[in-house]
Amino acid sequence: MAANELHAIAQAMVAKGKGILAADESGGTIKKRFDAISVESTENSRRDYRELLFRTDEAMKNYVSGVILYDETLRQKGADGTPLARIIQNSGAIPGIKVDAGAKRLAGCPGETITEGLDGLRERLAEYHGLGARFAKWRAVIDIGAGIPSYGCLHQNAQALARYAALCQEQKIVPIVEPEVLMDGDHDIARCESVTEFVLKEVFQELYYAKVELEGMVLKPNMIVSGKKCAQQAGVAEVAERTVKILKRCVPPAVPGIAFLSGGQSDVEATAHLNAMNAGYTLPWTLTFSYGRALQAAPQKAWAGKAGNVPAAQKAFAHRAHMNGLAVLGQWKAELEKGAA
Ligand code: 13P
Repeated sequence: MAANELHAIAQAMVAKGKGILAADESGGTIKKRFDAISVESTENSRRDYRELLFRTDEAMKNYVSGVILYDETLRQKGADGTPLARIIQNSGAIPGIKVDAGAKRLAGCPGETITEGLDGLRERLAEYHGLGARFAKWRAVIDIGAGIPSYGCLHQNAQALARYAALCQEQKIVPIVEPEVLMDGDHDIARCESVTEFVLKEVFQELYYAKVELEGMVLKPNMIVSGKKCAQQAGVAEVAERTVKILKRCVPPAVPGIAFLSGGQSDVEATAHLNAMNAGYTLPWTLTFSYGRALQAAPQKAWAGKAGNVPAAQKAFAHRAHMNGLAVLGQWKAELEKGAA
């Protein structure tokens, strides 16, 4: 039955000690990342960079359950002609695909966005399934500021996430449901907590109305953290405590796993927070990672676009993947970061 197939994929995505590599940067975002390391973003440079990640066997076989790809990458072949999706599958990980068309200005709600991409989504999902994708991602963006978020923004984004998730399940693809409350701004951690709670309540209500099977999805939320520009920065224990509290209030145990985004946290912070939750609490779901920047910042820096740096970049990626794999088990320790690339 299709439902069981979906449950099995969702379970595999949150397998113990593993997590998801978010390598689905859009053309604009990957250009920004490459600009920072002085690499020109071309079809080939993007391919070479992503191929080096997917060929990092130590990371891919042991700590990565799935990889979120961008449309271009799902269609690309490695230098030897092997499709990149096949390289991922050969390592034992599952290829996934970002299917939203980005956050656009929301009419009537100044300063807020709505994520687009529902038109034609059924057909695109069917094609992506044919190309090997077994899960998808859609990111809603909620900004905190003076007078925002509005209920209208939360509601419309939650409804779009639910429509996306229902279409995914119809097409035998596991939806990653990602409502991201941004950490930009000077708000304190209590504000992040109350907004995130509201957002998650709204998302699960809409998922219910859309008849989404919770057993066949993965939630990708932000952690509850202080705004980046807030003078008072909460420590690791407080982030873990508040995040676990809100997730327990909002996420039914029927959801097999929760895979956090890193959202601009430093890579070690993202690992430490995840570890604190898994080490310190009894939880009804697996808590894992679906990191972009927190997994890729180190390998990007080590690579810098030079073929000769590929081994160093792979070492840096394997290290971060290993550290996060340990954090999923609650077995990470700060000392393990010493001597890392
Ligand atoms: P970050 O971990 O860099 O936030 O990226 C994760 C992601 O997929 C955002 O949509």
